Amino acid sequence: ETVDWDPDAAGKSGYDHYMRKEIAEQPRAIRDCLRGRVTELEGTVSLPELEGLETPSSVQFVACGTSYHAGLFGERLLRRRGIHAQTFVASEYDAAEVPIDDGTLVVGITQSGETADTMRALRGAGRAGATTLALTNVVASSAARECDRVLYIRAGPEISVAATKSFASQQVTLSLLANALADTTSRAHLRELRRLPEYVQSVLDDTGTREVAEALADADAYFFIGRGDNAPVALEGALKLKEISYEHAEGFPAGELKHGPLALVTPNTPVFAIVSGRSKTAETIGNVNEVRARGAPVVAVTDDPESVAPHTEYVLEIPETRPSVVPIVANVQLQLVAYWLANALDRPIDRPRNLAKSVTVL
Ligand code: G6P
Repeated sequence: ETVDWDPDAAGKSGYDHYMRKEIAEQPRAIRDCLRGRVTELEGTVSLPELEGLETPSSVQFVACGTSYHAGLFGERLLRRRGIHAQTFVASEYDAAEVPIDDGTLVVGITQSGETADTMRALRGAGRAGATTLALTNVVASSAARECDRVLYIRAGPEISVAATKSFASQQVTLSLLANALADTTSRAHLRELRRLPEYVQSVLDDTGTREVAEALADADAYFFIGRGDNAPVALEGALKLKEISYEHAEGFPAGELKHGPLALVTPNTPVFAIVSGRSKTAETIGNVNEVRARGAPVVAVTDDPESVAPHTEYVLEIPETRPSVVPIVANVQLQLVAYWLANALDRPIDRPRNLAKSVTVL
């Protein structure tokens, strides 16, 4: 007697899609990323991969797609610690003609380690005299072999074309990198990184996203806004949604909405707003009210539901943590929204049309 065994279904551990499984794996991926790298008691980060590396005069991130959004997250952490940092879309790096000297560290953020645009930028930077670092998920990938140094994000295999857990692992690795490169580490930041798996788990356990996505699945377009640390989350939320649902989605820094995109806002264009960060909350609520005045339904992703709920149709709650950790947690809500919306529209979630997991052509 034989039993039918479907290797594909087995690989999904009971979930309908790899994407859903990989979203759920994030607490574990984050723990793996942190393992052995943080001594919370002493408030230190140890990354043997960076041993002997001097504090760079400037850091340039080069990356594509979701990895580019991780760069936008990372550059803020570095600047906050006094290190000059900038992120470039890898395919634009050459044209940017950005100055490089031997104190420049160029970090290629690439899940696969094979993206042609990122590889080209890294090679160019190396030739120009920069120190290069690959921040990647794949051991012995092209980026890992090309660069002077390599820092693995330890997300584990990611099958779904849309990047989810690798983005969280990139954000966590960048948080460690920022603490390691700066002269001082923040004990409070490290403590919250250690709690991050619990925070993400609490988002995963809260099932509000499916209802929101199904209620809004019939819209003309979707907009995402966030400010400060959460501006990159708005970009990533929109990218995830367009990749797998084929719906038109755009992300903007919240304050920029009124400088053009507001012309597109109607009662049939839901707006997702990441609302967090004390004093900034009021400003983002101001932007929320601008779109509500045009009839757009608003979904808030917030750690302050009491102040925010009266201004929005829907609230997706996240636990309270430090501003630099909020983007990692808030993004998980938007991953789930994208997933459930694509699911409601019956899209082939793990293999969206026209897209590839790793793009090895220029
Ligand atoms: C492709 C994928 C994206 C990914 C991007 C960068 O376009 O479809 O999901 O973010 O490549 O990939 P990388 O492996 O370099 O992070």
